[in-house]
Amino acid sequence: MESFLIAARAVHYASSISLAGVFAFISFVAIPEISPRLGQRLSMLAWASLVLAVLSGGAWLVFVAAQMSGQPVAATVSQGLVAIVLQRTRFGQVWMVRAVLAVILAALLSLPRGWRGRLWNWGGLAFAAGLLASLAWAGHGGATPGRPGDLHLAADMLHLLAAGAWVGSLIPLALFLAGAWQNADPGARTLRRVVTRYSVLAATSVGVLFAGGLANTWFLAGSTPALIGTDYGRLLLAKVAIFVTMVTIGSVNLLRMLPRLAPTAAEGAPRQRAALSHLRRNALVEAGLGLAVLGIVAVLGILPPGLHTEPGWPLPFRLELAALEPAAIAALAIFAALAVICAIIGVATAAAGRYRAMAAAWASLIICVAAGVFTARPAIAPAYPTSFYAPAEPYSAPSVAQGARLYTESCAVCHGANGKGDGPAAQVSPIRPADLTAPHLFAHTPGDLFWWVSHGKANGAMPGFAAVMSPADRWDVINFVRARAAGVLSQKLGPEIATTAAPAVPDFAFETQNGQQTLHRLLRNGPVLLVLCEAPPSAARLAQLDAVQRGSGAAPLRVIVVDLAAQAMSRAETAPSPPPVAISPDVTATLKLFRTPADGPETDLMLDRAGNVRARWATGKGGVPDAETLAKDAYMAAQIPASPENHAGHIH
Ligand code: HEC
Repeated sequence: MESFLIAARAVHYASSISLAGVFAFISFVAIPEISPRLGQRLSMLAWASLVLAVLSGGAWLVFVAAQMSGQPVAATVSQGLVAIVLQRTRFGQVWMVRAVLAVILAALLSLPRGWRGRLWNWGGLAFAAGLLASLAWAGHGGATPGRPGDLHLAADMLHLLAAGAWVGSLIPLALFLAGAWQNADPGARTLRRVVTRYSVLAATSVGVLFAGGLANTWFLAGSTPALIGTDYGRLLLAKVAIFVTMVTIGSVNLLRMLPRLAPTAAEGAPRQRAALSHLRRNALVEAGLGLAVLGIVAVLGILPPGLHTEPGWPLPFRLELAALEPAAIAALAIFAALAVICAIIGVATAAAGRYRAMAAAWASLIICVAAGVFTARPAIAPAYPTSFYAPAEPYSAPSVAQGARLYTESCAVCHGANGKGDGPAAQVSPIRPADLTAPHLFAHTPGDLFWWVSHGKANGAMPGFAAVMSPADRWDVINFVRARAAGVLSQKLGPEIATTAAPAVPDFAFETQNGQQTLHRLLRNGPVLLVLCEAPPSAARLAQLDAVQRGSGAAPLRVIVVDLAAQAMSRAETAPSPPPVAISPDVTATLKLFRTPADGPETDLMLDRAGNVRARWATGKGGVPDAETLAKDAYMAAQIPASPENHAGHIH
C-alpha cells in the first residue's frame, strides 16, 4: 500500500503544480500573447490537472485513513473511516479546505471564454496557489511544533509555490512554443518577449526554491551524517542533483537560445526555427526532470526525516573540524567559496559556449578542492558506518556500573583490570591491546568505539562482540570505558579552571532531604561542586561548603557531598548541612572512578554546566579549596557555554 500512497502523492503534487503553473503562465508570462488556440489548450491542461488532482487527492486521503486505522482500503471506505479522518484530524481539515478550493477552480474553468478577463486570471492564480501551498500542511513542516514550525511551514509553502511557478509553467511554455512552431511566422518579437518573461519567472522561482530548500534541509536533515548517512538525506541529495541539472538546462536556454530568437536577416529564419525546437525540447526535458523530483518528494514525505534516524555513515573517513586551527577552518571556508564560484563560472561559460573559459574554471575548481583537502588533512579521521550513532544507553551511573561488570567478564583479559592494556592475554596478542585510559580514547566518537566493540579491530587481534553482547550491553561497556578514561584524565587537572573541554562525569541520581535529584537536573541551575569523601566530612568543612552554597557570590554554586564509604542508601541521622546525599552502590562504584588513593580523604570536582570536570582539588594534593576560591571559580565555570554534545573533548 505504501507504493500506492507514494504514487498518489506524486500524481497529486504534479497535478497541483501543473494547475498552478497554467495560471502562473497566463498571468505572468503570456497575457496579451495568448491566441484563442493556445487559450483552449491551456484550458484543457488546467481541466486535466484539476481532475487528476481531485482523484489523486482523494486516493491520498483514503490511503492515509487506511494507515491511521490500520484497516484495509476497502474497509476504510465502507466503514466511513474517511469521514472521521476528514472531521477529526488536521490532515482531514486541510483536505476539506482544499476540496472547496478545487470546486471554486472548477467553477472558474467552466466560465465561458467571454467572461474571462484579468480578474479571472488573478482569481484562478490565487485559488490554484492556495490549493498548492496548502499541501505544506501534509508534509513534515506541518508537524514541527511552535514558532520554528511556523517558519518551516512558511518556507515549505514558498517552496511549493516557486516549484509551481517554474516547473508548472514548463508545459504551458512548451505548448506556446509548439504553437509558434506550427505558425510558419512565429512573430519573433512576441516570442522573445514571452521567453524572456518566462526566464525572469523561472530565475526568481529558482532563487526561492534554493533558499527554501536550504531551510528545509536545516530543519529535517540537521547534520552532514544525517544527509549522507540516511535514506532520507540521500534522496534529498538526489533531488538537489536533479534540481541543479534543471537549472543548468534552464541557463543554457537563456544564454544560448534566447539570442537566436532575435529577428535577424532573412537567413536567420532557419536558425530561429532550430532554436525554437531546441527550446521546446529543453522545456519538455526539464518538465520530465521536474516529475522525477516530485517522485522523490512523494517518497520523502513518508520517510522519517534524517534527524530521526540513526545515520549509517557511508564513507571510510570523516572530518573532525575541531582538530583544526581556526585559521585552517577559515582557509577551508574560503576554498569552499572559491570552488562554488568556479563551478558557477564553469556552468555559465559552458552554457555560453566559451569552452576555453570553461576549462579554466574547472581547472581552478580542481585546484581549490585539492587545496581544501590538503588543508583539511589533519582533520580527516577514519570512520565507520556507526561512527555517528548516538549511544543508545545514556551516559549515566547505572549504565557505567553494568558496563564495569561486562568489562571484567569480556575485556579485562586483554585490556587489563585497570584498562592499561596489560591483561594476561596481552603477552600473546600479536598487537598490544590499546590503553583504554589514554586521552586518545576521546579522539574517537562513541560510535567509533561501538563499531570496534561490535566488529573487532586490527584484523581480529581484538575480537568483535556483536554475536555475544546485545547492543545495549555494548553501549554499557563503552560508557564504562569512557567514564573510567574520564576519571583518569580528570586526575591531570589542577585547581585552575581548565579552558579546554575536560571529560564529563556520568549522570547519577541521589537522594537529599528534599527528595530525588539527578546531577543533570541540578546542572541546569549552573556549575556544581562534587565533593567525594571516603569518610564523613568534618562539621567545619560542611559548614564551609554550606556557606559557599548560600553565599551571595556572582554565580550560584550547588554542592553535592557524597560519602563513598557510607553504607548504601543510609543517611546521617543528625543531618549536618549540607548533608551527604544518599546514593546507590552503582553510583558509588561510578564516582570512585574519579578518585585515587593518593587523594586522601576528600576530592573536589568543579563541574561546568555540561557536567565536564573543569578543576580538581584533593586533600592529599595541595588541599581542598576555601569558600573564596570556590566562589571565584564558580563564576568562571558558569561562563563556559554548555554544549549539549560534548564528547569530553577532542584531545589528541
Ligand atoms: C583478545 C584480546 C582483546 C579483547 C578480549 C578485547 N580487546 Fe579491545 N583491543 C585489543 C587490541 C589488540 C586492540 C588494539 C588494536 C589496534 O591497535 O588497532 C584493542 C583496541 C580496543 C579499542 C580501541 C582503542 C583505541 O584508542 O584505538 C577499544 C575501544 C577496545 N579495544 C575496547 C574493548 C572492549 C570494550 C572490550 C570488551 C568488550 C575489548 N576491547 C576486548 C584486544 C582485545
